Amino acid sequence: MPFMPSASAAHLDTLDAQYRDVLRNLEAILEGETDWVAAMATAAGELHNAFDHYDWTGFYRAVTGDMLVIGPYQGGHGCLRIAFGRGVCGTAAADRSTQLVPDVDLFPGHIACSSSTRSEIVVPVLRLDGTVLAVLDVDSNRADAFGETDRRHLAALCADLGRRFG
Ligand code: SME
Repeated sequence: MPFMPSASAAHLDTLDAQYRDVLRNLEAILEGETDWVAAMATAAGELHNAFDHYDWTGFYRAVTGDMLVIGPYQGGHGCLRIAFGRGVCGTAAADRSTQLVPDVDLFPGHIACSSSTRSEIVVPVLRLDGTVLAVLDVDSNRADAFGETDRRHLAALCADLGRRFG
């Protein structure tokens, strides 16, 4: 019997290929760009429009060592300020680590900017000295929308942004 990949394995291969396409394209668009706001706006737009499971996509900037302020984003209203340590974004900033949240209702202190958000992933953008420049926040209206493929590609993107704009 021929090998038939399972639906979910095929889905992950497709998702992986989509990320490689989108990130390759983004790299080409941002080649030579030195403006951080232009880079955030372009990254948010390219990602948001490429993936069906993205319902809010944007950056929160670490304007001080303990406060995030909203940056360029796509989607509905986003909260303007989030203190380090608060919600998923604030936890990613305080811990300087990616937060992958399959069910926002189970995350203590989750900030519900939109009642339709069911799951999210937040990836810190770190400067070369390890301090937080920003976080990339992606929210989905589907439960358990993000997995290791999303984490791996978004981490690579944010590492690159941190190196270039930190
Ligand atoms: N999901 C975030 C809040 C930001 S908005 O939903 C855009 C959080 O809990 O940190």
